[in-house]
Amino acid sequence: EKGGYDHFMLKEIYEQPRSIGDCMRGRIYPLEGKVKLGGIKEYTEKFKNAHRIIIVACGTSWHAGLVGEYLIEEYARIPVEVEYASEFRYRNPIITENDIVIAISQSGETADTMAAIEMAKAKGATIFGICNVVGSSIPRLSDAGIYTHAGPEIGVASTKAFTAQVTALTLMAFYMAEKKGTIAQTKLIALLSELERIPSLVERALQSDGLIREISEKFKDSRNALFLGRGSGFPVALEGALKLKEISYIHAEGYPAAEMKHGPIALIDEQMPVIVIATKNSSYEKVISNIQEVKARKGVVIAIVTEGDTEVVRMADYSIEIPSADEAFLPLLATIPLQLLSYHIAVLRGCNVDQPRNLAKSVTVE
Ligand code: M6R
Repeated sequence: EKGGYDHFMLKEIYEQPRSIGDCMRGRIYPLEGKVKLGGIKEYTEKFKNAHRIIIVACGTSWHAGLVGEYLIEEYARIPVEVEYASEFRYRNPIITENDIVIAISQSGETADTMAAIEMAKAKGATIFGICNVVGSSIPRLSDAGIYTHAGPEIGVASTKAFTAQVTALTLMAFYMAEKKGTIAQTKLIALLSELERIPSLVERALQSDGLIREISEKFKDSRNALFLGRGSGFPVALEGALKLKEISYIHAEGYPAAEMKHGPIALIDEQMPVIVIATKNSSYEKVISNIQEVKARKGVVIAIVTEGDTEVVRMADYSIEIPSADEAFLPLLATIPLQLLSYHIAVLRGCNVDQPRNLAKSVTVE
């Protein structure tokens, strides 16, 4: 049932070209510049008039929510707040009937996320679910929503469910942008044509597996790791750090790269790997300065770079390439090498990657 892979996690990492494709299937029409989301169609006016979108989730799903914030604000120009469900539910937050709450959950059974939905619903908000498990509790509690269609995820560490959530949020952002007229038709056509090619680009990103395994050998005994990114690379850094700590038990932190000098820079030494999302996009030059700050303190840099990059490659100790794509799709591609890095490090340390200690696949208690 592991399909020839040593672990479910690895199988699920490799399934991503398909699972991302399944999430988009029948939903994008690049030639027409249209996104069709049957699940939320009836609520189109609600989205157009929404004053605010509040995304609630836990763990990896919360990271997907942060990516969603960048995408929805950038393209649909609706203010977004991303909340940990467990904090939101106990905070007496200000919610009105003009707010939309998007709850993101792989399992659809997370207790804190369910309680947050119930509270927001009681205050009159409209609830959308982005869930993977069909027929689970969250879709039933929601007014409407969309399934991610990633297929069953067995590994406790979420991989393909995360990239499917990000894909679903990308579709929602484009859908709302088109309906609101906040995106030019030509731009949307270009983005949708590129989105259609993302599964094959993810396939290409997976080809760095051998190199990542070699890099993992060098860092398997690390005690700490720092993940840095800017823009939508920041939630990717958070997700990379969560993955590493969950399955390898190495202490890892994700930070916005510019925040490093406000504290974590004190941790830099010749041992701790600093994993930097340094792809060619709007923050490229800024990230280069952050890498220089690390190198000036003799830090070790593992950079995630765009194919063909030479500038970062010259500065970094190790570089892992991902295919070039519009910035909107950076999270879908940059996540892949980070999943493989934590997987190989955990395997080399002899950890039980599919069933890490103290963790459950769905957290149905608060
Ligand atoms: O099923 P959910 O998406 O609601 O689960 C949320 C978190 O419990 C989950 O993402 C957790 O952080 C994973 N172990 C991450 O790999």
